[in-house]
Amino acid sequence: MSKLPPDNDRSITLETRSPEETRRLAAALSPVLLPGDLISLTGDLGAGKTTFVQGLAAGLGIIDQVTSPTYILMKEYHGGRFPLMHMDVYRLERAQEVIDLGYDEFLDPSYIVVVEWGEVISPMLPPAHLLVEINHTEDDLVRNISLVPRGTRWLDRMPTVSVLSNELFSAVRDDDPRLRVDVFRPEGQKPESKN
Ligand SMILES: Nc1ncnc2c1ncn2[C@@H]1O[C@H](COP(=O)(O)OP(=O)(O)OP(=O)(O)O)[C@@H](O)[C@H]1O
Ligand SMILES: [Mg+2]
Repeated sequence: MSKLPPDNDRSITLETRSPEETRRLAAALSPVLLPGDLISLTGDLGAGKTTFVQGLAAGLGIIDQVTSPTYILMKEYHGGRFPLMHMDVYRLERAQEVIDLGYDEFLDPSYIVVVEWGEVISPMLPPAHLLVEINHTEDDLVRNISLVPRGTRWLDRMPTVSVLSNELFSAVRDDDPRLRVDVFRPEGQKPESKN
């Protein structure tokens, strides 16, 4: 039996430089999502958790605008590849509502479930989930985003997640050093010398 590395060995940490980049990152992850998945979002207050969920929804093909579920415990979004359930359990009474709801209703296996401040209800989280931690940096528009797999279901997907996120950022950032590849030129077609 192969020994799995500790969960954090396959974590990915990236930097987004605008709300739009955070949405794009989340949208880029959406192809690996399946019903029954749970994503727990954590990190600084106001760092971009809801913004991340907006990108996930868009990536799933959901047209409705995702807003913070402030007045209701959970908000469902339909019309995409799979239905999405969005919760925010920051306030303690919310956490209690989820606990009262019970495991089966909280984790409907036909939905992709995204929970802001998921750690508040950590005993309710399934062992396999993706933890997304978003934190502020010194720059107003820059966020540090860590994608931390929990459980085999997510560990196994991290190589794909890595490819998807790398592709995204090398495509949107012209200044990315990863874009500087040596272009193949047939014999006799040497590039003009700049000297
Ligand atoms: N790189 C970035 N990624 C995401 N949001 C950003 C970024 N730069 C600036 N922002 C701004 O930060 C704010 C994030 O708000 P959002 O509601 O998504 O945060 P949140 O983590 O859900 O907040 P809360 O903790 O209240 O639930 C938005 O106003 C967004 O425009
Ligand atoms: Mg929020």
